[in-house]
Amino acid sequence: MSPARKSPSPALYEQLAAELRAQIEAGAYPAGERLPSVRQMRQDRGLSPSTILQAYRQLEDAGLIEARPQSGYYVRARPLPHPPPEPEISAPPLRPENVSMDELMDRVLHEATQPHLMQFGTALPAPDLLPTRRLDRILVRIARQDRYPWNVYATPEGSSELRAQVSRRLGRLNCPVPAEDLLITNGCMEAIHFALRAVCRPGDLVAVESPTYFGLLQALEAEGLNTLEIPTHHRDGISLEALEFALEHHPIRAVVAIPNFQNPLGSCMPDEHKRQLVDLLARYETPLIEDDIYGELAFGERRPGLARTYDRQGLVLTCSSFSKDICPSFRVGWIAAGRYRGRVAQLKMVTNIGTAILPQLVIAEFVENGGYDNYLRGIRRAYAQKVAHMARAVLDYFPAGTRVTTPQGGYVLWVQMPEAVDSLALYQLALESGITLAPGRMFSATGKYASYVRLNAAYMDFAGQRALQRLGELAQRLNRRG
Ligand SMILES: Cc1ncc(COP(=O)(O)O)c(C=O)c1O
Repeated sequence: MSPARKSPSPALYEQLAAELRAQIEAGAYPAGERLPSVRQMRQDRGLSPSTILQAYRQLEDAGLIEARPQSGYYVRARPLPHPPPEPEISAPPLRPENVSMDELMDRVLHEATQPHLMQFGTALPAPDLLPTRRLDRILVRIARQDRYPWNVYATPEGSSELRAQVSRRLGRLNCPVPAEDLLITNGCMEAIHFALRAVCRPGDLVAVESPTYFGLLQALEAEGLNTLEIPTHHRDGISLEALEFALEHHPIRAVVAIPNFQNPLGSCMPDEHKRQLVDLLARYETPLIEDDIYGELAFGERRPGLARTYDRQGLVLTCSSFSKDICPSFRVGWIAAGRYRGRVAQLKMVTNIGTAILPQLVIAEFVENGGYDNYLRGIRRAYAQKVAHMARAVLDYFPAGTRVTTPQGGYVLWVQMPEAVDSLALYQLALESGITLAPGRMFSATGKYASYVRLNAAYMDFAGQRALQRLGELAQRLNRRG
């Protein structure tokens, strides 16, 4: 008879699991962090691989960590309370505003370039999740190949390779747009500027979600447009009832919305809601400028579709870019401008002729042959972890009564603090501690959202956890003073 196989000592693996559990709970391994590999543990502790694996499996069963194939074991975010305390629905005054941007915007944007600050303030993607090395290699390869003559003037519509890739991906979303109807731009913001110029004249009124991305408010101001802010739900997006009322009572020339993972709310309009929005605007012959910059960063298996899918009249101008998922510095975006395509191509031509060719070719190659879908699966998982981790930490560290969104994509969180906490005061204090944040007032032209902040969860790691704890202490201090 062969001797019975020696099973690992229960005491040892349980001891190791208990020790790791305590470390995870104390924040030594924040959510999303990889636990040491089995080999590393074996070297450090002199334990057998089966003892280590059994400890890891016990932690996995307890929901504290998760196994990722071919990668290792990672710490999961602690679950949020049920139901999570979410911010109240926005209720901006339904009156047109002249957008007036203050110094604050410039300061927050300037701070985004300061590497010594903890970047909770702007919606920069996590640097270590970007495929920089792969882009490096593609860039060098393409630059050296004669079949891509890149050192020439670009055409206004952009690279046919990249437009073909964008068109192919839109087709997969049940939203067919021929490559010739697409135009490559310098990032999503240029696409939005062209869309606004194509459909509006200075002095026109444009409806936007409230709160909304401050870059959109800046674009509206720069184009000499007025805004009307529409209440927006942190889960389902813009209120169609309020929008219909506004269309009835105001001369709205266009609507700008971020249907998928809105910035700052993280809301995602259900398909039916998108269809109703497009139908409503078609009834009023009002163009919709759809910003889909976060659409690919969905946490679920499938990314949500576009409002454009329901457009039968060419009234939807869809704008997006690769700034959030592949490369913010290349400034490569696109627009599908529907019936305004010709006007947008002309605007592109007279503004800057075309977008730099090399970055377009690199992105096209990465999307076509660089394992883009597999890469997206990885970053979606990582952002889901970071968002869950930050939401949990906000509830743990911020004053009682704080509410936070629980988005299913993107990586920004909208946090409603008790009224006593003024987010501008918090912003000042946080900067002294080397932390940036985006005060709520930046997301509206109405002066609302004084006790809200938008936080960027992309920076949520070990250092991020510490910074968030500090931010929570500062908010507690302001709350006590208030
Ligand atoms: C909703 C939204 N649209 C557009 C942009 C800007 O995009 P790009 O950098 O591609 O111009 C951002 C950046 O934060 C954003 O959040």
